[in-house]
This record gives sequence, C-alpha cells and structure tokens, in this order.
Amino acid sequence: MIVDNPYQPMLCKLVDVIEETPTIKTFVIEPPRPFAFRAGQFAQVGVPGVGESPFTPSSNPSEPERLEFTVIRTGRVTEVLHAMKPGAELGLRGPFGQGYPVDELADKHVFVVGGGCGLAPLRSLIFTLLGQLDRVRSMRIKYGARESREILYRNAYEEWARHAKVDVQCTIDVAEPGWSGKVGVVTTLLNEIDVPIEDVMAVSCGPEIMLKFVTQTLLERGLKPEQIILSMNRRMSCGIGKCGRCNIGPYYLCRDGPDISYAKIKDFANVF
Ligand SMILES: Cc1cc2nc3c(=O)[nH]c(=O)nc-3n(C[C@H](O)[C@H](O)[C@H](O)COP(=O)(O)OP(=O)(O)OC[C@H]3O[C@@H](n4cnc5c(N)ncnc54)[C@H](O)[C@@H]3O)c2cc1C
Ligand code: FES
Repeated sequence: MIVDNPYQPMLCKLVDVIEETPTIKTFVIEPPRPFAFRAGQFAQVGVPGVGESPFTPSSNPSEPERLEFTVIRTGRVTEVLHAMKPGAELGLRGPFGQGYPVDELADKHVFVVGGGCGLAPLRSLIFTLLGQLDRVRSMRIKYGARESREILYRNAYEEWARHAKVDVQCTIDVAEPGWSGKVGVVTTLLNEIDVPIEDVMAVSCGPEIMLKFVTQTLLERGLKPEQIILSMNRRMSCGIGKCGRCNIGPYYLCRDGPDISYAKIKDFANVF
C-alpha cells in the first residue's frame, strides 16, 4: 500500500505573476495533478532553498488544475517569492484544515468581511458562493484597505455586484486627495445591518487586530458568537496537528481551522 507522505511537497510550475498592489502579488501555479481543495483550506507553499509558508488559495475551488495564491510581501519567504518569475518551480503540499463551513451559510445573509490581504482567502469563498447563490439569501462583501493603491481585486467588484444578491462595499482607512469612496476602517461598513440579525452569518479574514474589532462590532450589532467565523491565520509549521504550534485551547488551527467559529474559541486566553 502506498501512503501519501504529508511532508512531501509536489513540484509545481509558476505560470503567471499578477501584480495586484505595490505589496501584493498573485501567483498562478499549475500542479502536476489537480489539487482539490475546499474554500478556506490552505497549502504549504515551498520556495526552493528558502522555506515554506502557509497560504490559502484565492482561486476558485472548481479549478483545481490552476491555482492562485495572493501573497503580501512581509518577510523572508514572501520576499523571495515576490521576486520569482513565470517558469520557476514551487513546492506545494496540502490541502490542510477544514475550510469555511459553507453548509452553515445556507439560507443566510452572508457578510464577507475582509481587511488588506485578508480578501485573498475570502475570494475562494466568494467564488464558491457566486456558484451557488440560490443557497444563500445574500452575500455582502465588506472590504477595508489602508489606502486606495492597496485595494485588492478592485476590477472584480463590478462583476461580483452584478448579481442581484451580491453587494460590495469598500473603504480606505484615511482620506486621500481624489478619493470619492468611503473612508474609515472596515468596521464602519458594519454600522447598519439592514437584515434580521438572526439571519446573518459573518466570515472574516484579515490582520488579527482587525478580527478583534470586527468581532467586537458584530457582537455589539447583536450577532451571537456562533454567527461569526474567523480565519485565524496564525504562524504554522507542520499544518497537520503534530507540532503544537498553532493551538487555541484544545483546537489546532491548522487541523480544526483555520476558519473557526468564534463561539468555540472565545473563552481562551490567546484568541486576539
Ligand atoms: C492558514 C494560513 C493561511 C494564510 N494565507 C495567506 C494568504 O492567502 N496570503 C498571504 O499573503 N498570507 C497568508 N498567510 C500568512 C503567511 O503565511 C505569512 O505572511 C508568511 O508565512 C510570512 O512568511 P515570511 O517568511 O515572508 O515572513 P517571516 O519572515 O516569517 O515574518 C515576517 C513578518 O510576518 C509575520 N508573520 C509571519 N507569519 C504570519 C502569519 N501566519 N500571520 C500573521 N503574521 C505573520 C511575522 O510575525 C513577521 O512580522 C496565511 C497564514 C496561515 C497560517
Ligand atoms: S501547525 Fe503544527 S500543529 Fe498546527
């Protein structure tokens, strides 16, 4: 019997690099065989000679033969990744984690709340829900970026919002000359919730400080902890619940998350 080794990456070809913002690029990768994943599951992407890092595919799970990872340049691995050109090889292992609980979103008004590069993992959920809009009441995408040039996937919003059930709102943190859109942190987009609170499910991904304030705001608006799903993209190593690097209470975020109900983790000390 051949047993797959979860530490063994497969070599993939980098076929395209899309410059999204001054600090964020999307890497288009072709694996040697389809890489089936659910929205929100992540992979360990290996940069030969440097190391590997966890990233969640930002592409449509219905296209497992061509993956996209949208990555912000932040340190050692991502710095080298950002310098790579089409034709290079990358390692890939996974998928890991549970992904977003899509079945729990059925018949709900789904608030997709992203901050900065946090819209990247959420894009795979957006694609998934766009493919099954009959299952949800609506999808409200609320996105915040630091400044206008850091707005991710800006050219896609019109297409997403073409569907009657989908609404996209974007804000930047601080006013800029020439900007006529909304100004303020992403929680300002949650000031008014115009649907019955009990019919809402919120899914959020972004920097941890943002998740903290989004959670606080949603609770103030009347959501219960069970209605809030957070992408807890903590530092991870093995990805498979072995190294003990990513736990909150009894939950290993790599294995039980990274997208996890706030109700499960709210009482543990190291949540935010
Ligand atoms: C499940 C999961 C999914 C992720 N998906 C994405 C994604 O789709 N796109 C994306 O750009 N990033 C994503 N990340 C974060 C990404 O893994 C880190 O930014 C990356 O590992 C940094 O590697 P580095 O060697 O370049 O930085 P390092 O040199 O290791 O660190 C540079 C800086 O980044 C911080 N950092 C490192 N890892 C993390 C982390 N996990 N969370 C927050 N800060 C971190 C460090 O504290 C340090 O300040 C994800 C993380 C996890 C755990
Ligand atoms: S990353 Fe090793 S236990 Fe989660």
